[in-house]
Amino acid sequence: MMKALMLLVGLTAAVAPAARADEAQVAAGRAAFATCAVCHSAEKGRIIVGPPLYGVVGRKAGTVPGFSYSKAMAASGITWDAASIDAFITSPQAKVPGTRMPFAGLKDPVKRAAIIAYLTTLHD
Ligand code: HEC
Repeated sequence: MMKALMLLVGLTAAVAPAARADEAQVAAGRAAFATCAVCHSAEKGRIIVGPPLYGVVGRKAGTVPGFSYSKAMAASGITWDAASIDAFITSPQAKVPGTRMPFAGLKDPVKRAAIIAYLTTLHD
């Protein structure tokens, strides 16, 4: 009994710092998302200059109803995941030549990772 309890305490101690690091990264990402929020809403269905990024992780590129995408984006064949979003926001024109996203790119990998961690939380 005592052994099981000690094991449990040990496990909790090992897991908690990782969870805190994730929360910190999501919080940093929410703040860094200000760069994107001029054009992108984090709310479902709300179009600004760009399509909403609610639910973007796992979504096929160019498929938000009511948003008029570039041909390049609509035909890209991408399904957004952490790696493809990372490549796209590093250099939109390099990843999707001809995209209409008027964004030069975010060179800071720490900020990109934080934004992606935040985007991952935006789903049903
Ligand atoms: C100045 C406006 C603007 C900014 C800033 C901007 N975007 Fe975009 N974004 C767009 C537009 C417009 C599109 C549609 C592009 C197309 O159709 O080629 C788009 C498309 C996207 C897509 C594809 C969405 C889909 O439904 O397929 C992703 C992902 C994306 N942006 C992420 C970001 C992230 C993350 C940031 C911040 C780092 C950002 N964008 C900054 C305007 C912007």
